[in-house]
Amino acid sequence: MNAVFPGSFDPITSGHMDVLTRAAKIFDHVTVTVMHNARKTGRHLFTLEERLEILREATAHFGNVSVDSFGGLLVDYMRQQQKSIIIRGLRAVSDYEYELQIAHLNRQIGEVETVFIMAATRWSFVSSSMVREIASYGADISEMVPRASANALRRIHADVYAEREAEKVETQLRVDGGMGERG
Ligand code: PNS
Repeated sequence: MNAVFPGSFDPITSGHMDVLTRAAKIFDHVTVTVMHNARKTGRHLFTLEERLEILREATAHFGNVSVDSFGGLLVDYMRQQQKSIIIRGLRAVSDYEYELQIAHLNRQIGEVETVFIMAATRWSFVSSSMVREIASYGADISEMVPRASANALRRIHADVYAEREAEKVETQLRVDGGMGERG
């Protein structure tokens, strides 16, 4: 049986990767589909092409996962692709209410089923938006996202990361210098 894992993936996180890994073990094939809307383009950090590129790199090791995109209603995509199972990840109870509404609406308008997969608890607090925020200050996000996302975030915030790195070196030099004086 095949399934579709839709999302904005701006960028894909370790929580998404966890859900995808679990889904890929259950389903014969999983398509990770970036749902995009031309009217909402400005709201994303990464362009559609960048998000697809990150996804291709992050999912390259799966034998049964492919990457796609669609700019419209999810149920129209499902119909077009002749697929009927949507995968959505749940991190915490707070996700449930929103997801339940979307799942019911999708079933009503498109006769598709949504299968929820719980992400491991260590990812309960990780979201693309939080990762984007943390990265914008040049902090370490390497645990929270796959390497492809981390590299892309570091590239986009290269100046902030360089500044933070320089500060770290400066602090280390001061600590080393201070210790040298004492020793
Ligand atoms: O990663 P996200 O932002 O939680 O993903 C939400 C997404 C993109 C899957 C959802 O907003 C969606 O399906 N958008 C496509 C438009 C659509 O079908 N909306 C109606 C759902 S009732």
